[in-house]
Amino acid sequence: MKLGTLNLENRYILAPMQNVTTAPYRRFIRKFYKVGLVSVPLLYTKRIVKNPKSIKHELYKIEEEKPISIQLIGNDPNSLKKAIDYLESYDFDVLDINAGCPSKRAIKAKEGGYLMKDLESLGKIVKMAVKYSSKPVSLKIRTGFDTPMNIGKMAKIVNNFNIDFLIIHARPVKSNYNVGTLDLETVKQLKENLTVPLIGNGDIRNPIIAKHFIDYTNVDALMIGRESMGNPELFSQMHEYFTQGKFARFKNNIDRIKSHLLIYEEVLDEYLIGISYSYGNEVFKFRELKRNTIWLYKNINNSTKIRRRLGETKNLKQLKLILEEIFSK
Ligand SMILES: Cc1cc2nc3c(=O)[nH]c(=O)nc-3n(C[C@H](O)[C@H](O)[C@H](O)COP(=O)(O)O)c2cc1C
Repeated sequence: MKLGTLNLENRYILAPMQNVTTAPYRRFIRKFYKVGLVSVPLLYTKRIVKNPKSIKHELYKIEEEKPISIQLIGNDPNSLKKAIDYLESYDFDVLDINAGCPSKRAIKAKEGGYLMKDLESLGKIVKMAVKYSSKPVSLKIRTGFDTPMNIGKMAKIVNNFNIDFLIIHARPVKSNYNVGTLDLETVKQLKENLTVPLIGNGDIRNPIIAKHFIDYTNVDALMIGRESMGNPELFSQMHEYFTQGKFARFKNNIDRIKSHLLIYEEVLDEYLIGISYSYGNEVFKFRELKRNTIWLYKNINNSTKIRRRLGETKNLKQLKLILEEIFSK
């Protein structure tokens, strides 16, 4: 499928999530389905300008992950330009601008989600990105800041940006991630008024919800974040459902967790070849495996105690000992 000047194999996109969609995580997800596009989570333009090398480890080997998007967050057009110049040495496919982050830090710095109520600054940032980026540019927004946006106004602004596509997380910034605040109506109306492709995002937890999202809003593609945590098969299930009208359901059990962890460890070992983290590759591996083990346990009955024990582990050895004990039962 085509998103502006970008060609993708399919319409499923892995969302950027700080401390989640790391390089090994993205590679792990793609072991189950060749997701059309994956995203590096937000990078602060000010941090890049201050110390370009500080983001080096976030971008290790990204050329192996194409197609891949890198996201920038900031409110100063000049810093953005400098950050773009620095990123030019990397081989990636899309430059994404964050205008949706609800964190206190972002709002205080008048960036991310704050830009949903400062459309003038949003315009300056996006125009700068389009002017200086040699890569296709996308913009990730919310449906508004505290209330739904003025759709006509927003569509007009976005249509004039010359971006390749727009991504919308279907709830206002102020609603954070709150359950019950998803607003597909605004997404639908925005889509009707846009001349650029629109990617829909928010609370897609299974293929049936994914289909409803597309049917209701007519968005061109879907971006999925949290549900992929512990459920890497979601993308292949969506593909099956959209093409065959049914999908294989997986029962989560110890065998599934075991085989997923083996895959994750293989991915990690391969990724770490030639890489050397200052705090030690074993620490990196431990953190990755620990987080993902806990997520894999999320739909298992009575797993609270196990997840707590996993959460208390301090190193790879402890984690592996607990896993051995659980798996041997
Ligand atoms: C832990 C976490 C970190 C996130 N980090 C980012 C980020 O760096 N950039 C961004 O645009 N959105 C970020 N998001 C938002 C997601 O990309 C996505 O828009 C949101 O989770 C809604 O989609 P979902 O319901 O499929 O998870 C983050 C979300 C979570 C839960």
